[in-house]
Amino acid sequence: MKIWQWGPMGYLKNFGYAIELGHRVYLIDPISMENSLFRDDIERFISQDKKIYLTNTHSHQDHCDNNQELLNHYPEILFLDHFKLQDQAILYRTSESYIQVYSMPGHITDHCIFIAMVNNESHSAILGDTIFHGGVGNCRSGDALELFSSIQKIKQLVCNKTKLYFGHDYFLDNCEFLMNNGMVLPSFIQGRYDRRVSEEVYIITTWQDEMSYNKFLQIEDMKQFIDLRTKRDCW
Ligand SMILES: [Fe+2]
Repeated sequence: MKIWQWGPMGYLKNFGYAIELGHRVYLIDPISMENSLFRDDIERFISQDKKIYLTNTHSHQDHCDNNQELLNHYPEILFLDHFKLQDQAILYRTSESYIQVYSMPGHITDHCIFIAMVNNESHSAILGDTIFHGGVGNCRSGDALELFSSIQKIKQLVCNKTKLYFGHDYFLDNCEFLMNNGMVLPSFIQGRYDRRVSEEVYIITTWQDEMSYNKFLQIEDMKQFIDLRTKRDCW
């Protein structure tokens, strides 16, 4: 099992992903084919005779915009409409690994996340716009109460070692919001922040790392969560 990450790309700093498992590749929220690294990787999957599926975490344009271009250009790619994916469905399974999809409303009603399981442990989670490095998704077209419930559900699905993959690169903004609201970042997160300020580097974080400072994940009270989300909206 391998996770591919491309981007960030565009003014919203979107990431695109793929989960490669056995002979299959699941592309999730593809970035534009203008990105040559992305294009080269797709062409390599095709030359390796991989069965390629394309799906999305949710219906916001910045996540689905590139679907059609990709499907037009590569007729080998099969479209898997995320609206038709059932909560907890297993997309594909090999002897040791599988990919499972979960419905996670809040940022928007139709939001899904994808968890790659290896040896019965959650190895990686493609989280779209539910959780971000240092924050969570906005609820402008969703519902903060639902997002809170979804986050509590995610807590049950991941383990400390689970690698987290987000829909956007909002790390600096999110850290600045936390610091402006009285949070002292743990030194290793402060180190990542300082490095990121001067360098275009995207560190893959884990659930354990994220729980150590991401206030939105630490809060267990629904009202406090909604208050903090509202504060973030006005920041
Ligand atoms: Fe979104």
